[in-house]
Amino acid sequence: MKHRKKCLALALAVLLALDLRVPTHAAVADTGYTDVNAGHPHAEAIVYCREHGLMNGTSSTTFEPESTLTRAMLATVLYRAAKSPSVTGTDSFTDTVEGSWYSNAVLWASQQGLVGGYGGGIFGTNDPVTRQDMTTILWRYAGSPSAGTSTFNDSASVSGYAASAVAWAQRHGIVAPASGSVFAPRDNATRAQVAAALMNYSLTQETVPSGNTRVLVAYFSRYGNTDYDSNVDATTSASVVVENGQRQGTTELIARMIAEQTGGDLHLIETADSYPTDFNDVVDQNHQEIGNGARPTLTSSVDVSKYDVIFVGYPVWASTAPAPMLSFLEGLNLSGKTVVPFCTHDGYGAGRSYSAVSQASSGATVEQGLAIDSSNAASSEPTVISWLNGLNLPRAGSADDTQRPQSETAIRITIGERELEGLLYDNAMARQFIAQLPQTITMTNYGGREVYGGIEQVITVEGEGQLRFDDGDITYCPTNNTAAIFYAQSSRPDLTMTVFPIGKVTSDLSIFPDLPSRVEITFEVISK
Ligand SMILES: Cc1cc2nc3c(=O)[nH]c(=O)nc-3n(C[C@H](O)[C@H](O)[C@H](O)COP(=O)(O)O)c2cc1C
Repeated sequence: MKHRKKCLALALAVLLALDLRVPTHAAVADTGYTDVNAGHPHAEAIVYCREHGLMNGTSSTTFEPESTLTRAMLATVLYRAAKSPSVTGTDSFTDTVEGSWYSNAVLWASQQGLVGGYGGGIFGTNDPVTRQDMTTILWRYAGSPSAGTSTFNDSASVSGYAASAVAWAQRHGIVAPASGSVFAPRDNATRAQVAAALMNYSLTQETVPSGNTRVLVAYFSRYGNTDYDSNVDATTSASVVVENGQRQGTTELIARMIAEQTGGDLHLIETADSYPTDFNDVVDQNHQEIGNGARPTLTSSVDVSKYDVIFVGYPVWASTAPAPMLSFLEGLNLSGKTVVPFCTHDGYGAGRSYSAVSQASSGATVEQGLAIDSSNAASSEPTVISWLNGLNLPRAGSADDTQRPQSETAIRITIGERELEGLLYDNAMARQFIAQLPQTITMTNYGGREVYGGIEQVITVEGEGQLRFDDGDITYCPTNNTAAIFYAQSSRPDLTMTVFPIGKVTSDLSIFPDLPSRVEITFEVISK
């Protein structure tokens, strides 16, 4: 039964993987529904579900995003996703009608253990599905993975049977809170929320770059390269994360998340000589290794010719990549491969490590890295997934399918009577901004160089950000949750907070210097 559920959990992923050329992550310019504009928070999900045959509109022109979905309808959506397998028998519910449009779906869902009804033979066929029931059904579809406990403010009001499901949905970013930190388990799920959950779940399966792309996740951690006592714990200066009684390195933890998401093979980079157990001794040894350009001998080896994409993970040591990581990379033929760095650190970021990785990866394309603060490592899976989804990984198997579709999103920027044009990039941060549009931001004209203002929702950032800008850059600043347009002085940026470029104003910038000190600026996606 367990195996069958696992297969079922994969069915949706397989169904979706069949159509890899659909630009699933592209921003939506026109949803095709008159009642879902491009700025709707779930516009992308609604289009995604239609394009992948998961949910259709309520008519050829409407989706009714705020309407509810009945329990029978949700069973039907999942049944379709599983390619409508033939079923035999009848369900045991007293409130289902034999021979109706949902019969096979409900029978299938109950036989697979996805739905059990309310008890007493009642399925609740025409009842709207609640948010916790939608989550539970999807979680069962995913094979009922364990996920700890949720941390919503109203977690206590989640029914016992749904607790693990809600924790799973939170951990993997599958069902967004109803608002703030409130899950609202007993509210009815809207059709738009169901579409978002289906897309988010599908994308967690889809981070595998393609059915054929072969992924290696190679990592170096102190744990695995140090002769620690078997009971060493995370309270010492040893880099050890203890989760569910299992010990692992901090970087290893992230490596495992990436391997789980991508289906990649894990590889621990091991040195012939162990590193000292004492932190200060490792610091000293690392300084010596940097000083004399050491390349420690490795005992582990891996045949990288079998892989297309090689994730390489390491702890940041003295603001760069540890010497064993360079031994590893320099010892490989990486010609034509894609190398993707990721690292963990104690608060000082990736430092110079990405360029060290690039230099050591001769012949490879090096993708945007991910730096995780070790104190957030255990809860960083949503960040990892979001970063994976934003990567531009190759897909093996077809000549014209070697790159993810790149698309920038055209936007209109309205300031009083003036309309300017701009674009937002095809990256995960820009997509989070696009999801909030249209939005009017009260912006401050500051320092003769920028207008900036607070935006509605926080954007999860990736990478290091930067303390410079080009004139015309549209940026996001996570410190203050503000968006900005920089219009002058790029030659002397003098920024004190890091910003992340998410787009560009393509019109003339001459309007900006003369704007008042506070001004309303509207950002909206231009429908094609
Ligand atoms: C020798 C050494 C140097 C380090 N240098 C830095 C640093 O420059 N910046 C930083 O933020 N953390 C630094 N750290 C902390 C590690 O990067 C961090 O704890 C990391 O998550 C450990 O990963 P691991 O458990 O996989 O070894 C250093 C740790 C060691 C042992």
